[in-house]
Amino acid sequence: MGQKADYAAVIAGSFEPMEEAEDRCARRRQRRPEPHKDLKMEMDLTTETTRRDFIYIAAGGSAVLGLGYSTWPFIDSFNPASDTVAAGTTEVNVAELQPGTRLTVQWRGHPVFIERRTPETLALARADDDNPALIDPQLDADRVIDPELLVVVGVCTHLGCVPLGQSSGDNQGLYGGWYCPCHGSVYDVSGRVRRGPAPKNLEIPPYQFMSPSRIRIGD
Ligand code: FES
Repeated sequence: MGQKADYAAVIAGSFEPMEEAEDRCARRRQRRPEPHKDLKMEMDLTTETTRRDFIYIAAGGSAVLGLGYSTWPFIDSFNPASDTVAAGTTEVNVAELQPGTRLTVQWRGHPVFIERRTPETLALARADDDNPALIDPQLDADRVIDPELLVVVGVCTHLGCVPLGQSSGDNQGLYGGWYCPCHGSVYDVSGRVRRGPAPKNLEIPPYQFMSPSRIRIGD
């Protein structure tokens, strides 16, 4: 009997009175640092970052698309009308091409660079005719029909990239011609390669003058 009374006292002592338990819980709740606050901030930031990134990406995409749309008519205006592209030939009116300016047309899926050279540029091209450093020696006169008009295929003879130099502000390389951004080949104002790794000069496409201001590229 005495032992049973001892057990009852122990069991009773192991339980906390209800009021004290509630107080303790309330104190704990007050002490607890709002458990979801940091997480919520993080989520807000993440959401904000994601939204901002999307805007940047969307804006960037629009800019690229916008650039494409805004520059294409300008570029396309140089290209011949579809009725002049036939049987692998491209006819180009060069009447409006001013000295010192370049245009790009498409011929059989390749860019063709046309430049109306100034007397100074022509003199520069001829001055290097005998340069022993030419990688693929060729006279400027052998690369043109009308010395004023240079017509070359705008494809690097290394691995086929399109060299820079057609747009104002482009890197034209050390010799004022074209610079290939892929591996650094440099072409002069005659389209001759001056720095490798390109092994050959820019190719001259077959072309002929249909009139003093109109050329047909292609056979
Ligand atoms: S493709 Fe032009 S340098 Fe390589």
